[in-house]
Amino acid sequence: MYKKRFDNRKFDESRPIEATISVVENATGSAHFSLGNTKVIAAIEGPKTLHPRRIQDPERGLVRCTYDMMSFSVDDRKRPGPSRREIEIGLVMKNALQPFVLIKEFPKTVVDVYTEVYQADAGTRCASICAASLALADAGVPMRDLVASVSVGKVGDKIVLDLTKKEEDYEEGATDIPISMSGRTKEISHLQLDGCITLDEFKKALDVGEKGCQEIYELQKKVLKEKYGGV
Ligand code: CDP
Repeated sequence: MYKKRFDNRKFDESRPIEATISVVENATGSAHFSLGNTKVIAAIEGPKTLHPRRIQDPERGLVRCTYDMMSFSVDDRKRPGPSRREIEIGLVMKNALQPFVLIKEFPKTVVDVYTEVYQADAGTRCASICAASLALADAGVPMRDLVASVSVGKVGDKIVLDLTKKEEDYEEGATDIPISMSGRTKEISHLQLDGCITLDEFKKALDVGEKGCQEIYELQKKVLKEKYGGV
């Protein structure tokens, strides 16, 4: 039984969410995004001509995502450089974001999305997707919607929103379901499931995840509106 969350949050409450845009001067667009102690910077380069030329698509552009976690971001020093995990998360990010980017508007080019996790307490792929979506908007890359992402899961017998590392590691290990969803149209572009869950619990988790994504979407809109006006 998981009676009370370690940090006293309600079961369907996310950690404090903060978002800021235009934080990296030399990038086309950028954002800082944090979910509690999970903190990420995203920076965009492009659209720029894709090289080598033989991989250019005359019909559409490409979104390329690079995810990295700094060595000091976790308790056990993380080995620097891309591991299998980092490469996989880069692909997960691309799949979550690209469906909402109007890639036909910039053929033969690439938009590079770099995310750097400098403090990790679970949910780093979700925070990276939230930051990247904001950074793409800040860069003026044409998109049909923003993407919000959060992890939902089952800790003990409870469905919980936005798991911490301590919750992920609870007892035999929690069930972790990172979800990415477009803010306006509520299309799910990414869902992973690590663990076991019944169908009814899964449906409840999706509802809780949607609520979490909507909260993030509202904040994303707010910070963009503050700088650029209507979104
Ligand atoms: O971060 P996310 O939940 O998207 O991905 P994960 O691979 O399930 O990792 C969960 C958490 O484990 C990370 O957020 C870190 O807090 C931690 N971790 C770690 O301590 N050392 C690593 N080399 C990788 C992850």
